[in-house]
Amino acid sequence: MYQFTDDMRTDIKHIDNQHKELVDLVNNAASLGIANPSKEDMKKCLDFLGQYVIKHFGDEEKLQKESNYPNYAHHKKIHDDFITTFKELYADFEKNGPSPKLSFALSNTLTSWLITHIKREDVKFGKHYATH
Ligand code: FEO
Repeated sequence: MYQFTDDMRTDIKHIDNQHKELVDLVNNAASLGIANPSKEDMKKCLDFLGQYVIKHFGDEEKLQKESNYPNYAHHKKIHDDFITTFKELYADFEKNGPSPKLSFALSNTLTSWLITHIKREDVKFGKHYATH
């Protein structure tokens, strides 16, 4: 089980709350992988993630623009790349249905997102936001 840890904190309350939701989602996705999910469960998970990323990325990018964040373009590209990966996973689901391979890819993508993106990029933005 993953936990929201201090090194993931941006100190922007709204963003930290959204990241906590993502930690819950990663934990759910991991249990889906173990449980060999039904089509309905997997669709629910993917739909939630799709809505989450659109809302979360939009909120975060808005704060970055408002605070003239100098790394905005770089950060947005990472968000856009994640959306591309997500669309590929969704297309795989629509074509082939749920599978252990898809659960594993989803869980891996989300985990790597937590580790590499929130800890490195979002926390860096949090520091900028605190001083802008
Ligand atoms: Fe929290 Fe940059 O995504």
